[in-house]
Amino acid sequence: MTNDCRGTTRCAPTEFPFEPAAVAPSLLAWYGRQGRDLPWRGTRDPYRIWLSEIMLQQTTVAAVIPYYQTFLASFPTIEKLAAAGIDEVLELWAGLGYYSRARNLHKAACQVIEVHGGKFPGSLDGLLALPGVGRSTAGAILSIAFDQPAPILDGNVRRVLVRLFAWQQDPRSREAEHRLWQWADELTSRESPHDYAQAIMDLGALVCTPRQPLCPQCPFQEICQAQQLGLVEHLPVKRRKKAVPTRHQVALLLKDGQGRLLVRQRPLSGLLGGMWEFPGVEIGGTETAEAAALRCLRELGLSAALQQMACLPQLYSHFKLELTVFYGRIAETGRVAETEAQWLDDFALGSLPLHGVQRKAYQQLSKAQPVT
Ligand code: ADE
Repeated sequence: MTNDCRGTTRCAPTEFPFEPAAVAPSLLAWYGRQGRDLPWRGTRDPYRIWLSEIMLQQTTVAAVIPYYQTFLASFPTIEKLAAAGIDEVLELWAGLGYYSRARNLHKAACQVIEVHGGKFPGSLDGLLALPGVGRSTAGAILSIAFDQPAPILDGNVRRVLVRLFAWQQDPRSREAEHRLWQWADELTSRESPHDYAQAIMDLGALVCTPRQPLCPQCPFQEICQAQQLGLVEHLPVKRRKKAVPTRHQVALLLKDGQGRLLVRQRPLSGLLGGMWEFPGVEIGGTETAEAAALRCLRELGLSAALQQMACLPQLYSHFKLELTVFYGRIAETGRVAETEAQWLDDFALGSLPLHGVQRKAYQQLSKAQPVT
């Protein structure tokens, strides 16, 4: 391994333990038989492909499909997306998670309109300049929409390559990163990039799965180095997971005399930025959930008898949340100390981007007491 002038490591060309030219044809033949029929296949529209790739970041195909379809029904073109308000975009994203993707999507749509006159960029640099588009997503868009040979290295492809080459070290190290990108590039089909990209992602999703991979069905069975070494189930090597902290919060579902609920919007930047939620606070170290709920009520300048409704768990990328939900009725329309908060009826709440756990809390309340 050598260092180039920017100080980044560069790997010597791979000496393959198999015939590299045979990789793409056998993968493509498998894809012809077993590839999935997904809603974003059968189009070359870069807008649709970009949308699918952003939705598929850290999210399964099954979870994405209904969101993709609903999103496109509302925003069939990039012009429509750019012209929408961020609240409309977040509302359609509600429940899909990783909301910075939705904010970046909207920003990127505006950028495509303003900088590229509405024409989606078809170069690596143009794509990488869009918010939310990293190297792998750019590779996927270039290959799938523009039929340009560009490597991709999402989670599925990474696992396929780690096993194919029997990479036995940390797959996230700097060296692994260089090697894997290099292999991804060297193996990418120059003849059929559009199909190759989707084929290798499908192989990772359907055959070369994290657990119980279906090796007898794999087109790489004869050449897979992990298979030959009996290491398939042990690769990629796992990093020891950092313990995920649990945060405890309360949320208050407060109804006023007109049956409206109090909600507020989160700041636009940061976790769940721009999403709406019921007022709440973090439970202090020695505090009980009830005490935290009363403190929150006092801070709002309201008074009500509170009743504990539910304790809802939610997993985020770097912490677990336990949300204790309280319900209370305010006699009058309460004037709230927090100026940003608003009383909204069920109709308005139905079209508000409430983030996952908050929507669950709202649904529980609606189930417990039919709309008044
Ligand atoms: N994961 C990410 N992009 C994908 C695609 N285009 N098809 C299937 N799985 C994917």
